[in-house]
Amino acid sequence: EGRITWNLGPLQRPAMSKLLGATTVLVLAALGVAIASLVFNILVFNKVNSDKYNDAPTTMASPTSSPDTDCPTLDTISTQASWKEAANRILSTVDLSADPCQDFYQFTCGKYIQDTNLDGMSRKGTYDEAQYQINLGIADYFDSKKLKDLTSDTEKIQKNFLTLCYDDGQNDPSDPEVRKTKWTQLSVELNKELGFPLVGTARQPQDVDGIFTKMGEMERDFTGGPFMTSFVTADFGDNNTNALYINQPALQFARDFFVKPQFIDHLQAYAEDIRDLIIAYSSNMGLKIDRSFCGNQNDISDKDCAEQVAQWAVNLERSIAMASWPDTELRNYKQQYTPFESLNNLDSRYSQLKLSRYVRALLQLQPDQDLNGFKVVISQPTYLSAIDGMFDSGKLSLDEYTNYLAIHFLMENAGDFGIDIPSADDPVKKMKKKNEKKYEKYITRRGHGARRIKRRPLNSKGLAASSDDEIRTGCVDAMIDYMPFGPGYTYVKNRDDKYDVRADARTMAKNIIHEFNGMLNSLDWIDDESLAFAHLKSEGLQRNYLWPDKVFGDDFSNSETVDKYHHRYQLLIAVDDKFTYWDAIKQMKMGLMYTEQWDIVDAGGDRSNFLQSPATVNAWYQPERNSITFPFGILNPPYYNLNYPQAYNYAGQGGTAGHELTHGYDDEGTQFDENGMLADCEFTHCSILDDDSRSGFVDMAQCVVQQFNTQCCPLKKGNVRCANGDTTQGENIADIGGQQAAYRAYNQFMANLTMTEDRLPGLEKFSPQQIFWMTYGVSWCMKITDERLTKQLMTDPHAPSSCRVNQVMQDIPQFGMDFKCKRGVSPMYPTEYDRCKVWVGY
Ligand SMILES: *[C@@H]1O[C@H](CO)[C@@H](O)[C@H](O)[C@H]1NC(C)=O
Ligand SMILES: *[C@@H]1O[C@H](CO)[C@@H](O)[C@H](O)[C@H]1NC(C)=O
Repeated sequence: EGRITWNLGPLQRPAMSKLLGATTVLVLAALGVAIASLVFNILVFNKVNSDKYNDAPTTMASPTSSPDTDCPTLDTISTQASWKEAANRILSTVDLSADPCQDFYQFTCGKYIQDTNLDGMSRKGTYDEAQYQINLGIADYFDSKKLKDLTSDTEKIQKNFLTLCYDDGQNDPSDPEVRKTKWTQLSVELNKELGFPLVGTARQPQDVDGIFTKMGEMERDFTGGPFMTSFVTADFGDNNTNALYINQPALQFARDFFVKPQFIDHLQAYAEDIRDLIIAYSSNMGLKIDRSFCGNQNDISDKDCAEQVAQWAVNLERSIAMASWPDTELRNYKQQYTPFESLNNLDSRYSQLKLSRYVRALLQLQPDQDLNGFKVVISQPTYLSAIDGMFDSGKLSLDEYTNYLAIHFLMENAGDFGIDIPSADDPVKKMKKKNEKKYEKYITRRGHGARRIKRRPLNSKGLAASSDDEIRTGCVDAMIDYMPFGPGYTYVKNRDDKYDVRADARTMAKNIIHEFNGMLNSLDWIDDESLAFAHLKSEGLQRNYLWPDKVFGDDFSNSETVDKYHHRYQLLIAVDDKFTYWDAIKQMKMGLMYTEQWDIVDAGGDRSNFLQSPATVNAWYQPERNSITFPFGILNPPYYNLNYPQAYNYAGQGGTAGHELTHGYDDEGTQFDENGMLADCEFTHCSILDDDSRSGFVDMAQCVVQQFNTQCCPLKKGNVRCANGDTTQGENIADIGGQQAAYRAYNQFMANLTMTEDRLPGLEKFSPQQIFWMTYGVSWCMKITDERLTKQLMTDPHAPSSCRVNQVMQDIPQFGMDFKCKRGVSPMYPTEYDRCKVWVGY
């Protein structure tokens, strides 16, 4: 009976599996066995997979009354290769000598932490490896092809970019000739756009209007700007259209670093970086630093003058940080939605800022375009007021504004272009080698709205077997940043199990949503009307699975749709010898900005927008679209593999699905309705919950805040020791709620089959339920330096991974039961009193 509902996609198509096996052999033969990319490994696993499904019945044991730790042999032990592989993944990180009831994180990750060498990085986790493997697979694919073998424009663009990027990677960044060439290329751009009075290059903008026009042009082509940044996303007030949102800028690093006194060293180091940048640029270009920018002190050295200017620039950025809203204030979306129905109104509201000039340039509006019907949304009105005041005060000259913009232009683009600039992040001052610099480029900084989802850059140190692999995977990563759907397309296209994985992810998400709805029904603090709205939200949830059909087209044999999507990158389809790596980066940035932003400002609302690459190892909820997105990248170990046990997949991918779903119900998610529009707004807030239910929600959240604040997780040495319960509550609630939904779904799934899963070889003493919890723990294994941990505790909305394991377990009593912990004695299994009931009433 049970086997009929077991999601046996491949079982029904054994012929296809065989075919894939045969293709594997051919492909491998053609390319040489030396190519061992992820893409091909997956093909190989497919073959294993077909065996699995052929003898599916033997992989299941008959139902047992309850899993038992001490009697290992009640259930069958699987002998499948894929199960062995899953087991080995777990075995490679767990410390079985630790007591899971005392410290579950130590139990699941003790060995990982002991064995992992940070290789100079500040942190490394099981997660990084997944992204590395994907990037490597994409690099291997392109390296195995010649340009003429590629039929789609989307892939030719990538091949050309990678070729230029690899070539650039062969350059020695400390070679003076290389540096000079690179600075010269950047300077052409800089002088065309702006000029740089600090080093005597004439300023281009002639007045404040001109400054704002340049800001628009530069952001249009080169990503965000230092005074403000705009993005295009769904209109919070009208789900049928998009809107242009003008925002405070994403700063070089978190606001706290600028405004809190304990980070003075950090700012000092940042100022030194800017000083070094100024010196590097001026000396390479043979330009003299104009002493009028350091109080006309003609007798001081270049270094001292540059240092004064750098401190001035950091102070300016500091005042921008002070004027901008802190993260905690960025969670109320009503406060961040001030629409202006006409650009002209905007100019009268902020009379010193020439925002209509800026928008005209950003969107390349025709000179005769009527601004009256042109709607824009201001996200942080008081921030712009402060900037308006700054321009009004006349404290800065046009030359100084230009210098400030130029410094940021150089910093951003030198970093992207592989010019050595020292790290702003690293107190140990030394010139960083290529690929070691820690400069955070604009595109990966945490933003809001469309760029709200921070893209975590690949950190390949210690993962790459050679410096060549480091360069190759780094180049793919830049491509994922600037052409998200290009490498995404290639990755998905080459995954032969894509339709099976997509079907499986869909089933799993459906089951988890179903279970979450069951959890909602058990709440005692939500009234009927609010409950009905909550259900409506999950019914209306837009589910984006693995890749966007709208972008990739209906099948992968025809690239017409995806090529059309990438028409803004067309200059990279065919390049001649004169085309430089800098040209390539420019095209990539421009392509991104037009494709993902400016071109869609007039497009209708599209809730199926993925925002980021299908090749990225992450998942997200977008409140303004009420959508949940699982890129293909996340459907890999340590979260998922089509052929791994269901306990593993439900814990990893299932837990991720539950986590993102729960974000739809957190303090931000509940502000939006089932269509992604601001719900029932009154007075200061919008919510799908009525007042009584909202106060129940706040109580629930407060329990979690309190728990984190009082327990001081993760207890390290030093002044900063504990996760901040307030700032991490959203993520913690999503972890706790999501993992419970996944656990329920797993058990229900197996109950529907009236079966229990086999035991894992080497881990046979653990029940499937215990494996579920262990997989969750393993997915969070991370080694991190104390310094990095301090920074995370101070600034990150995510608690450190040890807390994401140990604290979460405390609020899910099924964990304590499954591990037979002593309630009230085991810290992982507190009494009913000390536990927070998150999204459940039981
Ligand atoms: C917008 O929401 C309405 C319901 O309020 C719905 O009928 C319509 O299909 C939605 N439009 C889009 C583009 O999602
Ligand atoms: C279990 O079966 C019920 C009844 O057929 C179904 O509604 C539910 O979605 C199934 N749940 C899972 C997790 O498979």
